[in-house]
Amino acid sequence: MTEWVEKNKAHFNEAASTYNAKFSKTILQIIDKIQARRDWIGVDWIEDSSEDSENSNSSAANPSAGNEGKTVKLLDYACGTGLISRAFAPYVSQCIGVDISESMVNEYNAGATNQGIAEDEMHAVVGDLIAPTPSATLSGAKFEGFDIAAVGMGWHHFENPLLAAHRLADRLKVGGVLFIIDFLPFDDPKSAQAQAHSHGASHHHAHEEGKGKHSENEEISHQAVRFITHFGFSEDEMMKVFESAGVGGGFEYMTLGEGTVFKHSGQDMKRSVFMARGTKL
Ligand SMILES: C[S@@+](CC[C@H](N)C(=O)[O-])C[C@H]1O[C@@H](n2cnc3c(N)ncnc32)[C@H](O)[C@@H]1O
Repeated sequence: MTEWVEKNKAHFNEAASTYNAKFSKTILQIIDKIQARRDWIGVDWIEDSSEDSENSNSSAANPSAGNEGKTVKLLDYACGTGLISRAFAPYVSQCIGVDISESMVNEYNAGATNQGIAEDEMHAVVGDLIAPTPSATLSGAKFEGFDIAAVGMGWHHFENPLLAAHRLADRLKVGGVLFIIDFLPFDDPKSAQAQAHSHGASHHHAHEEGKGKHSENEEISHQAVRFITHFGFSEDEMMKVFESAGVGGGFEYMTLGEGTVFKHSGQDMKRSVFMARGTKL
């Protein structure tokens, strides 16, 4: 494991127990946005029958007649506490989460258990697909032939996003979809501040956020950049990555509205979010 991955893992192990509470509003907003665009994502989903049932968000827990025997397998990579799995659960038969942080994986599995979802329908394991050699825990038929591989807000944490795309593409069946949701390009807060300091100019980034005192903003910015490798991804960058990994079929990229609010140290920071999808050829 590289030093970078170790740092990310330690950070998310510490963040795991409060992650859902801290980001509850944002998580719900993103789930809504994803579900509203599921036709655009373009997987042959299981028809959602949960609208007839008030107590389940798992399709396999409540199959409708038309879905008999149909399987749709989701790989929720960098799953965290399970945002992506929650978004897709009504439309797939199985969610498999993978994350480098054991505490995130524990949160994911506790969430599934608390909702009464069986392990063969929703379960996460610790593993790293982007390591020079993918973790042995991720070998075998269970971790292959996915209909969709998705990464929610994890892309900017990867040391090598291109390698990630290739490794995820390997796990898709032909016709399967790679789906990414992450940030549009934004300024590196560290370099924006360094520039402002060295030129004695106004603190552009801090003022742009428009919230809190200068020192707090500095703290927030440093926290935000400590565990990320990339400051967002443009459509062109994403298209090249998808094409290189062999998942460029029907590539599409859309930005989501006004921007989504993320909290850092109690402060709101608005970032624009994109979704990208492509089919394995
Ligand atoms: C911001 S969280 C997003 C979690 C979840 N997908 C969501 O949308 O709420 C980023 C996650 O990426 C995981 N992560 C970072 N690097 C990873 C890697 N190389 N392989 C797998 N997971 C990784 C972290 O442990 C963390 O759970």
